[in-house]
Amino acid sequence: MRDNPLVLHVLGARPNFVKAAPVVRALDELGVRQGIVHTGQHYDALMSDVFFADLGLPEPIANLGVGSGSHARQTAALLTGLEDVVLEHHPSLVVVYGDVNSTLAAILVCAKLHVPTAHVEAGLRSFDREMPEEVNRVVTDALSDILFATSPEALSHLAREGVDPERMHLVGNPMIDSLFSALPKLDPAPVQARLGVPGRYAVATLHRPANVDDPESARELVDAVLAVAERVPVVVPLHPRGRQRLADAGLVNRENLSIVDPLGYVDFLSLVRGAALVVTDSGGVQEETTMLGVPCLTVRPNTERPVTVTHGTNRLVTPAGLPAAADKALADGSSTPSGELPPLWDGAAGPRIARVIAAWLRGDNLSPAAKGRVS
Ligand code: UD1
Ligand code: UDP
Repeated sequence: MRDNPLVLHVLGARPNFVKAAPVVRALDELGVRQGIVHTGQHYDALMSDVFFADLGLPEPIANLGVGSGSHARQTAALLTGLEDVVLEHHPSLVVVYGDVNSTLAAILVCAKLHVPTAHVEAGLRSFDREMPEEVNRVVTDALSDILFATSPEALSHLAREGVDPERMHLVGNPMIDSLFSALPKLDPAPVQARLGVPGRYAVATLHRPANVDDPESARELVDAVLAVAERVPVVVPLHPRGRQRLADAGLVNRENLSIVDPLGYVDFLSLVRGAALVVTDSGGVQEETTMLGVPCLTVRPNTERPVTVTHGTNRLVTPAGLPAAADKALADGSSTPSGELPPLWDGAAGPRIARVIAAWLRGDNLSPAAKGRVS
Protein backbone atom coordinates (compact mmCIF):
# COMPACT_ATOMS: atom_id res chain seq x y z
CA MET A 1 0.00 0.00 0.00
CA ARG A 2 1.18 3.45 -0.93
CA ASP A 3 1.99 5.91 1.90
CA ASN A 4 -0.76 8.45 2.53
CA PRO A 5 -3.14 7.14 -0.15
CA LEU A 6 -5.40 9.59 -1.97
CA VAL A 7 -9.15 9.10 -2.46
CA LEU A 8 -10.76 11.05 -5.30
CA HIS A 9 -14.51 11.65 -5.48
CA VAL A 10 -15.86 12.30 -8.98
CA LEU A 11 -18.94 14.52 -8.87
CA GLY A 12 -20.80 16.14 -11.72
CA ALA A 13 -24.51 16.64 -11.18
CA ARG A 14 -26.81 17.97 -8.46
CA PRO A 15 -27.68 14.66 -6.79
CA ASN A 16 -23.98 13.65 -6.66
CA PHE A 17 -23.17 16.54 -4.36
CA VAL A 18 -25.91 15.57 -1.90
CA LYS A 19 -24.75 11.92 -1.77
CA ALA A 20 -21.04 12.70 -1.47
CA ALA A 21 -21.15 15.28 1.34
CA PRO A 22 -21.58 12.80 4.23
CA VAL A 23 -18.94 10.46 2.80
CA VAL A 24 -16.41 13.27 2.41
CA ARG A 25 -17.12 14.48 5.95
CA ALA A 26 -16.76 11.00 7.45
CA LEU A 27 -13.51 10.29 5.58
CA ASP A 28 -12.20 13.61 6.80
CA GLU A 29 -12.92 12.56 10.37
CA LEU A 30 -10.88 9.41 9.77
CA GLY A 31 -7.97 11.50 8.46
CA VAL A 32 -8.11 10.10 4.91
CA ARG A 33 -6.45 12.29 2.25
CA GLN A 34 -9.06 13.11 -0.37
CA GLY A 35 -10.09 15.48 -3.12
CA ILE A 36 -13.18 16.27 -5.17
CA VAL A 37 -13.06 16.34 -8.96
CA HIS A 38 -16.00 18.32 -10.34
CA THR A 39 -16.65 17.32 -13.93
CA GLY A 40 -18.75 20.41 -14.65
CA GLN A 41 -21.67 18.34 -15.98
CA HIS A 42 -23.85 20.73 -13.98
CA TYR A 43 -22.44 24.24 -13.96
CA ASP A 44 -25.17 26.82 -13.23
CA ALA A 45 -24.73 28.34 -9.78
CA LEU A 46 -28.15 27.02 -8.78
CA MET A 47 -27.31 23.50 -9.99
CA SER A 48 -23.82 23.37 -8.48
CA ASP A 49 -22.26 26.16 -6.34
CA VAL A 50 -25.24 26.43 -4.03
CA PHE A 51 -24.84 22.74 -3.12
CA PHE A 52 -21.18 23.15 -2.19
CA ALA A 53 -22.20 26.00 0.10
CA ASP A 54 -25.30 24.35 1.60
CA LEU A 55 -23.60 20.98 2.13
CA GLY A 56 -20.23 22.30 3.33
CA LEU A 57 -18.34 20.49 0.56
CA PRO A 58 -14.68 21.50 0.11
CA GLU A 59 -13.52 23.25 -3.06
CA PRO A 60 -12.84 20.78 -5.87
CA ILE A 61 -9.18 20.16 -6.70
CA ALA A 62 -10.19 20.27 -10.38
CA ASN A 63 -13.18 21.38 -12.42
CA LEU A 64 -13.23 19.84 -15.88
CA GLY A 65 -15.94 22.15 -17.20
CA VAL A 66 -17.35 19.53 -19.57
CA GLY A 67 -20.79 21.19 -19.70
CA SER A 68 -23.74 19.90 -21.70
CA GLY A 69 -24.01 17.88 -24.87
CA SER A 70 -25.45 14.72 -26.38
CA HIS A 71 -24.69 11.55 -24.43
CA ALA A 72 -21.77 10.66 -26.68
CA ARG A 73 -20.26 14.15 -26.75
CA GLN A 74 -20.66 14.76 -23.05
CA THR A 75 -19.32 11.31 -22.16
CA ALA A 76 -16.38 11.74 -24.54
CA ALA A 77 -15.43 15.04 -22.89
CA LEU A 78 -15.80 13.40 -19.48
CA LEU A 79 -13.57 10.48 -20.47
CA THR A 80 -10.69 12.59 -21.74
CA GLY A 81 -10.89 15.09 -18.88
CA LEU A 82 -11.06 12.41 -16.21
CA GLU A 83 -8.25 10.38 -17.72
CA ASP A 84 -5.94 13.39 -17.41
CA VAL A 85 -6.95 13.98 -13.79
CA VAL A 86 -6.47 10.36 -12.76
CA LEU A 87 -3.06 10.20 -14.46
CA GLU A 88 -2.03 13.43 -12.76
CA HIS A 89 -3.14 12.57 -9.22
CA HIS A 90 -2.58 8.77 -9.01
CA PRO A 91 -5.49 8.10 -6.63
CA SER A 92 -5.53 4.86 -4.65
CA LEU A 93 -9.32 4.79 -4.94
CA VAL A 94 -11.91 6.72 -6.96
CA VAL A 95 -15.41 7.02 -5.48
CA VAL A 96 -18.38 7.58 -7.79
CA TYR A 97 -22.00 8.30 -6.92
CA GLY A 98 -25.39 7.46 -8.38
CA ASP A 99 -26.09 7.02 -12.06
CA VAL A 100 -25.20 10.12 -14.06
CA ASN A 101 -22.92 10.33 -17.08
CA SER A 102 -20.05 11.58 -14.90
CA THR A 103 -20.36 8.37 -12.84
CA LEU A 104 -20.19 6.15 -15.91
CA ALA A 105 -17.23 8.01 -17.41
CA ALA A 106 -15.21 7.89 -14.20
CA ILE A 107 -15.74 4.14 -13.86
CA LEU A 108 -14.68 3.49 -17.45
CA VAL A 109 -11.55 5.63 -17.13
CA CYS A 110 -10.52 3.93 -13.90
CA ALA A 111 -11.20 0.43 -15.22
CA LYS A 112 -8.90 1.08 -18.19
CA LEU A 113 -6.20 2.65 -16.01
CA HIS A 114 -6.48 -0.15 -13.41
CA VAL A 115 -7.42 2.28 -10.66
CA PRO A 116 -9.73 0.75 -8.01
CA THR A 117 -13.21 2.23 -7.63
CA ALA A 118 -16.12 2.35 -5.23
CA HIS A 119 -19.72 2.99 -6.27
CA VAL A 120 -22.06 4.65 -3.79
CA GLU A 121 -25.71 3.75 -4.51
CA ALA A 122 -24.91 0.48 -6.28
CA GLY A 123 -27.49 -2.07 -7.37
CA LEU A 124 -30.53 0.15 -7.98
CA ARG A 125 -32.44 -1.08 -11.03
CA SER A 126 -35.51 0.25 -12.82
CA PHE A 127 -35.15 -2.56 -15.39
CA ASP A 128 -35.86 0.09 -18.01
CA ARG A 129 -32.92 0.37 -20.38
CA GLU A 130 -34.56 3.35 -22.09
CA MET A 131 -33.52 5.39 -19.07
CA PRO A 132 -29.97 6.65 -19.64
CA GLU A 133 -29.39 6.22 -15.91
CA GLU A 134 -30.17 2.49 -16.05
CA VAL A 135 -27.43 1.95 -18.63
CA ASN A 136 -25.05 3.93 -16.42
CA ARG A 137 -26.01 1.88 -13.35
CA VAL A 138 -25.47 -1.50 -15.00
CA VAL A 139 -22.07 -0.60 -16.47
CA THR A 140 -20.90 1.17 -13.31
CA ASP A 141 -21.75 -1.78 -11.09
CA ALA A 142 -20.14 -4.27 -13.46
CA LEU A 143 -16.83 -2.39 -13.27
CA SER A 144 -16.76 -1.23 -9.61
CA ASP A 145 -14.47 -2.88 -7.07
CA ILE A 146 -16.44 -1.88 -3.96
CA LEU A 147 -20.22 -1.55 -4.12
CA PHE A 148 -22.17 0.38 -1.49
CA ALA A 149 -25.91 -0.38 -1.50
CA THR A 150 -28.63 1.83 -0.04
CA SER A 151 -31.34 -0.84 0.21
CA PRO A 152 -31.49 -4.64 0.54
CA GLU A 153 -33.02 -5.35 -2.87
CA ALA A 154 -29.96 -3.73 -4.47
CA LEU A 155 -27.84 -6.58 -3.07
CA SER A 156 -29.99 -9.19 -4.81
CA HIS A 157 -29.80 -7.29 -8.12
CA LEU A 158 -26.01 -7.25 -7.85
CA ALA A 159 -25.84 -10.92 -6.87
CA ARG A 160 -27.96 -11.83 -9.89
CA GLU A 161 -25.51 -9.93 -12.10
CA GLY A 162 -22.63 -11.98 -10.71
CA VAL A 163 -21.09 -9.50 -8.27
CA ASP A 164 -19.02 -11.20 -5.56
CA PRO A 165 -20.85 -10.70 -2.22
CA GLU A 166 -17.53 -9.80 -0.58
CA ARG A 167 -17.48 -6.61 -2.62
CA MET A 168 -21.00 -5.48 -1.60
CA HIS A 169 -21.83 -3.51 1.53
CA LEU A 170 -25.32 -2.53 2.67
CA VAL A 171 -24.59 0.84 4.26
CA GLY A 172 -27.82 2.85 4.20
CA ASN A 173 -28.45 6.00 2.26
CA PRO A 174 -26.03 8.96 2.29
CA MET A 175 -28.67 11.17 0.66
CA ILE A 176 -30.67 10.62 3.83
CA ASP A 177 -27.59 11.48 5.93
CA SER A 178 -27.52 14.87 4.21
CA LEU A 179 -31.21 15.31 4.95
CA PHE A 180 -30.68 14.43 8.63
CA SER A 181 -27.89 17.03 8.83
CA ALA A 182 -30.06 19.69 7.15
CA LEU A 183 -33.20 19.02 9.24
CA PRO A 184 -32.59 21.74 11.86
CA LYS A 185 -32.30 24.29 9.03
CA LEU A 186 -35.46 23.24 7.18
CA ASP A 187 -38.04 25.97 7.67
CA PRO A 188 -40.67 26.41 4.96
CA ALA A 189 -41.92 29.84 6.12
CA PRO A 190 -39.10 32.08 4.80
CA VAL A 191 -39.02 30.29 1.44
CA GLN A 192 -42.80 30.50 1.14
CA ALA A 193 -42.66 34.21 1.96
CA ARG A 194 -39.91 34.84 -0.61
CA LEU A 195 -41.67 32.91 -3.36
CA GLY A 196 -45.20 34.01 -2.43
CA VAL A 197 -46.33 30.43 -1.74
CA PRO A 198 -49.51 30.16 0.39
CA GLY A 199 -50.06 27.99 3.48
CA ARG A 200 -51.16 24.77 1.76
CA TYR A 201 -49.30 23.91 -1.40
CA ALA A 202 -47.73 21.21 -3.55
CA VAL A 203 -44.18 21.12 -4.93
CA ALA A 204 -43.41 19.63 -8.35
CA THR A 205 -40.05 18.77 -9.95
CA LEU A 206 -39.84 17.41 -13.48
CA HIS A 207 -36.76 16.62 -15.54
CA ARG A 208 -36.72 13.00 -16.78
CA PRO A 209 -36.10 12.83 -20.53
CA ALA A 210 -39.06 10.46 -20.96
CA ASN A 211 -41.32 13.16 -19.48
CA VAL A 212 -39.88 16.41 -20.77
CA ASP A 213 -37.98 15.78 -24.03
CA ASP A 214 -40.88 14.80 -26.25
CA PRO A 215 -43.48 17.55 -26.91
CA GLU A 216 -46.41 15.12 -26.70
CA SER A 217 -45.28 13.66 -23.36
CA ALA A 218 -44.54 17.15 -22.07
CA ARG A 219 -48.05 18.30 -22.96
CA GLU A 220 -49.67 15.30 -21.26
CA LEU A 221 -47.60 15.93 -18.14
CA VAL A 222 -48.29 19.67 -18.08
CA ASP A 223 -52.04 19.07 -18.46
CA ALA A 224 -51.86 16.76 -15.45
CA VAL A 225 -49.91 19.32 -13.38
CA LEU A 226 -52.43 22.02 -14.34
CA ALA A 227 -55.19 19.73 -13.09
CA VAL A 228 -53.34 19.40 -9.76
CA ALA A 229 -53.05 23.21 -9.63
CA GLU A 230 -56.85 23.38 -9.74
CA ARG A 231 -56.83 21.47 -6.45
CA VAL A 232 -53.90 23.04 -4.61
CA PRO A 233 -51.38 25.80 -5.45
CA VAL A 234 -48.32 24.23 -7.08
CA VAL A 235 -44.78 25.60 -7.03
CA VAL A 236 -42.35 24.17 -9.59
CA PRO A 237 -38.61 24.75 -9.07
CA LEU A 238 -37.82 23.92 -12.67
CA HIS A 239 -34.71 22.01 -13.75
CA PRO A 240 -33.10 23.67 -16.79
CA ARG A 241 -33.54 20.56 -18.92
CA GLY A 242 -37.28 20.84 -19.36
CA ARG A 243 -37.62 24.58 -19.17
CA GLN A 244 -38.43 25.47 -22.76
CA ARG A 245 -40.39 22.39 -23.76
CA LEU A 246 -42.55 22.46 -20.64
CA ALA A 247 -43.15 26.20 -21.10
CA ASP A 248 -44.18 25.53 -24.72
CA ALA A 249 -46.59 22.92 -23.37
CA GLY A 250 -48.18 25.51 -21.04
CA LEU A 251 -46.16 25.24 -17.83
CA VAL A 252 -46.04 28.99 -17.22
CA ASN A 253 -46.86 31.21 -14.28
CA ARG A 254 -50.59 31.49 -13.77
CA GLU A 255 -53.08 31.41 -10.92
CA ASN A 256 -52.13 28.63 -8.51
CA LEU A 257 -49.00 27.73 -10.51
CA SER A 258 -45.65 29.26 -9.77
CA ILE A 259 -42.61 28.38 -11.93
CA VAL A 260 -39.34 29.30 -10.24
CA ASP A 261 -35.64 28.67 -10.78
CA PRO A 262 -34.14 25.55 -9.25
CA LEU A 263 -33.78 26.06 -5.51
CA GLY A 264 -30.74 25.56 -3.32
CA TYR A 265 -30.70 22.38 -1.26
CA VAL A 266 -31.86 23.87 2.05
CA ASP A 267 -34.53 26.05 0.42
CA PHE A 268 -35.85 23.17 -1.66
CA LEU A 269 -36.09 20.72 1.20
CA SER A 270 -37.63 23.41 3.41
CA LEU A 271 -40.38 23.80 0.84
CA VAL A 272 -40.80 20.02 0.54
CA ARG A 273 -41.00 19.66 4.30
CA GLY A 274 -43.96 22.04 4.46
CA ALA A 275 -45.74 20.70 1.36
CA ALA A 276 -49.07 18.87 1.40
CA LEU A 277 -47.96 16.94 -1.67
CA VAL A 278 -44.94 16.45 -3.92
CA VAL A 279 -45.18 15.53 -7.60
CA THR A 280 -41.89 14.45 -9.10
CA ASP A 281 -39.89 12.31 -11.48
CA SER A 282 -36.67 12.73 -9.50
CA GLY A 283 -34.88 9.78 -7.94
CA GLY A 284 -33.63 11.56 -4.86
CA VAL A 285 -36.89 13.37 -4.13
CA GLN A 286 -38.70 10.01 -3.86
CA GLU A 287 -36.32 9.14 -1.02
CA GLU A 288 -36.41 12.51 0.71
CA THR A 289 -40.23 12.61 0.81
CA THR A 290 -40.22 9.13 2.34
CA MET A 291 -37.89 10.34 5.06
CA LEU A 292 -39.92 13.54 5.64
CA GLY A 293 -43.27 11.72 5.52
CA VAL A 294 -44.62 13.93 2.74
CA PRO A 295 -46.94 12.25 0.20
CA CYS A 296 -45.11 11.82 -3.10
CA LEU A 297 -46.57 11.03 -6.52
CA THR A 298 -43.88 9.92 -8.97
CA VAL A 299 -44.87 10.37 -12.59
CA ARG A 300 -43.00 7.38 -13.97
CA PRO A 301 -43.89 3.85 -15.05
CA ASN A 302 -41.24 2.35 -12.76
CA THR A 303 -38.83 3.19 -9.98
CA GLU A 304 -35.36 1.95 -9.13
CA ARG A 305 -36.23 2.88 -5.55
CA PRO A 306 -39.09 0.50 -4.64
CA VAL A 307 -38.41 0.87 -0.90
CA THR A 308 -39.93 4.33 -1.17
CA VAL A 309 -43.20 2.62 -2.14
CA THR A 310 -43.01 -0.37 0.24
CA HIS A 311 -41.63 1.61 3.21
CA GLY A 312 -42.48 5.17 2.27
CA THR A 313 -44.91 7.73 1.00
CA ASN A 314 -44.21 7.26 -2.70
CA ARG A 315 -46.75 6.14 -5.32
CA LEU A 316 -46.16 5.70 -9.04
CA VAL A 317 -48.69 7.41 -11.28
CA THR A 318 -49.33 8.01 -14.96
CA PRO A 319 -49.97 11.59 -16.09
CA ALA A 320 -53.62 10.63 -16.66
CA GLY A 321 -53.84 9.19 -13.15
CA LEU A 322 -52.15 12.14 -11.45
CA PRO A 323 -55.20 14.33 -10.67
CA ALA A 324 -57.14 11.51 -8.96
CA ALA A 325 -54.02 10.37 -7.10
CA ALA A 326 -53.49 13.97 -5.96
CA ASP A 327 -57.08 14.12 -4.67
CA LYS A 328 -56.50 10.97 -2.65
CA ALA A 329 -53.09 12.04 -1.32
CA LEU A 330 -54.42 15.48 -0.34
CA ALA A 331 -57.37 13.87 1.46
CA ASP A 332 -55.41 11.07 3.15
CA GLY A 333 -52.22 12.95 4.00
CA SER A 334 -49.10 10.95 4.68
CA SER A 335 -49.45 7.21 4.91
CA THR A 336 -46.65 4.65 4.80
CA PRO A 337 -47.34 0.92 4.33
CA SER A 338 -44.87 -0.26 6.95
CA GLY A 339 -44.68 2.79 9.20
CA GLU A 340 -40.90 2.34 9.22
CA LEU A 341 -38.11 3.90 7.23
CA PRO A 342 -36.08 1.57 5.00
CA PRO A 343 -33.36 -0.28 6.90
CA LEU A 344 -30.26 1.77 7.81
CA TRP A 345 -31.74 5.06 6.64
CA ASP A 346 -30.53 6.44 9.93
CA GLY A 347 -28.12 9.22 9.05
CA ALA A 348 -25.01 7.05 9.51
CA ALA A 349 -24.38 5.80 5.95
CA GLY A 350 -21.46 8.19 5.41
CA PRO A 351 -19.51 6.89 8.44
CA ARG A 352 -20.24 3.26 7.41
CA ILE A 353 -18.91 3.93 3.91
CA ALA A 354 -15.87 5.74 5.29
CA ARG A 355 -15.03 2.84 7.62
CA VAL A 356 -15.11 0.35 4.74
CA ILE A 357 -12.95 2.63 2.59
CA ALA A 358 -10.45 3.26 5.38
CA ALA A 359 -10.15 -0.48 6.07
CA TRP A 360 -9.72 -1.12 2.35
CA LEU A 361 -6.97 1.52 2.14
CA ARG A 362 -5.19 -0.15 5.05
CA GLY A 363 -5.34 -3.41 3.12
CA ASP A 364 -7.79 -5.16 5.45
CA ASN A 365 -10.17 -7.66 3.85
CA LEU A 366 -8.92 -7.09 0.32
CA SER A 367 -9.84 -9.70 -2.22
CA PRO A 368 -6.75 -11.09 -4.03
CA ALA A 369 -7.80 -9.39 -7.26
CA ALA A 370 -8.17 -5.98 -5.63
CA LYS A 371 -4.93 -6.40 -3.65
CA GLY A 372 -3.02 -6.91 -6.85
CA ARG A 373 -4.30 -3.61 -8.14
CA VAL A 374 -3.41 -1.37 -5.21
CA SER A 375 -0.01 0.17 -5.79
C1 UD1 B 1 -28.57 14.59 -15.27
C2 UD1 B 1 -28.53 13.08 -15.13
C3 UD1 B 1 -29.80 12.60 -14.44
C4 UD1 B 1 -30.03 13.33 -13.14
C5 UD1 B 1 -29.97 14.84 -13.34
C6 UD1 B 1 -29.99 15.50 -11.99
C7 UD1 B 1 -27.33 11.92 -16.92
C8 UD1 B 1 -27.49 11.06 -18.12
N1 UD1 B 1 -28.48 12.43 -16.42
O1 UD1 B 1 -29.65 14.89 -16.12
O2 UD1 B 1 -29.69 11.23 -14.17
O3 UD1 B 1 -31.29 12.98 -12.64
O4 UD1 B 1 -28.73 15.20 -14.00
O5 UD1 B 1 -30.40 16.81 -12.05
O6 UD1 B 1 -26.25 12.11 -16.44
N2 UD1 B 1 -28.35 22.43 -18.03
C9 UD1 B 1 -28.20 23.75 -17.70
N3 UD1 B 1 -27.39 24.08 -16.63
C10 UD1 B 1 -26.72 23.15 -15.92
C11 UD1 B 1 -26.85 21.82 -16.29
C12 UD1 B 1 -27.67 21.46 -17.33
O7 UD1 B 1 -28.80 24.62 -18.31
O8 UD1 B 1 -26.01 23.52 -14.96
C13 UD1 B 1 -29.25 22.07 -19.15
C14 UD1 B 1 -28.56 21.99 -20.51
O9 UD1 B 1 -29.45 22.45 -21.45
C15 UD1 B 1 -28.37 20.48 -20.69
C16 UD1 B 1 -29.58 19.91 -19.97
O10 UD1 B 1 -29.81 20.79 -18.88
O11 UD1 B 1 -28.32 20.12 -22.03
C17 UD1 B 1 -29.36 18.50 -19.48
O12 UD1 B 1 -28.22 18.43 -18.61
P1 UD1 B 1 -27.45 17.04 -18.40
O13 UD1 B 1 -26.47 17.14 -17.31
O14 UD1 B 1 -26.97 16.51 -19.70
O15 UD1 B 1 -28.59 16.06 -17.97
P2 UD1 B 1 -29.72 16.27 -16.88
O16 UD1 B 1 -31.03 16.26 -17.57
O17 UD1 B 1 -29.37 17.41 -16.00
N1 UDP C 1 -33.06 19.55 -5.32
C1 UDP C 1 -32.72 20.85 -4.97
N2 UDP C 1 -33.34 21.89 -5.59
C2 UDP C 1 -34.30 21.70 -6.53
C3 UDP C 1 -34.64 20.36 -6.89
C4 UDP C 1 -34.00 19.31 -6.27
O1 UDP C 1 -31.89 21.06 -4.09
O2 UDP C 1 -34.83 22.69 -7.06
C5 UDP C 1 -32.33 18.44 -4.68
C6 UDP C 1 -33.19 17.37 -4.05
O3 UDP C 1 -33.55 17.71 -2.73
C7 UDP C 1 -32.28 16.16 -4.10
C8 UDP C 1 -31.52 16.38 -5.38
O4 UDP C 1 -31.61 17.76 -5.69
O5 UDP C 1 -31.38 16.17 -3.02
C9 UDP C 1 -32.13 15.54 -6.48
O6 UDP C 1 -31.65 15.94 -7.69
P1 UDP C 1 -32.42 15.67 -9.06
O7 UDP C 1 -33.89 15.52 -8.83
O8 UDP C 1 -31.97 16.71 -9.99
O9 UDP C 1 -31.76 14.29 -9.55
P2 UDP C 1 -32.16 12.76 -9.40
O10 UDP C 1 -32.23 12.44 -7.96
O11 UDP C 1 -33.43 12.56 -10.14
O12 UDP C 1 -31.05 12.05 -10.10
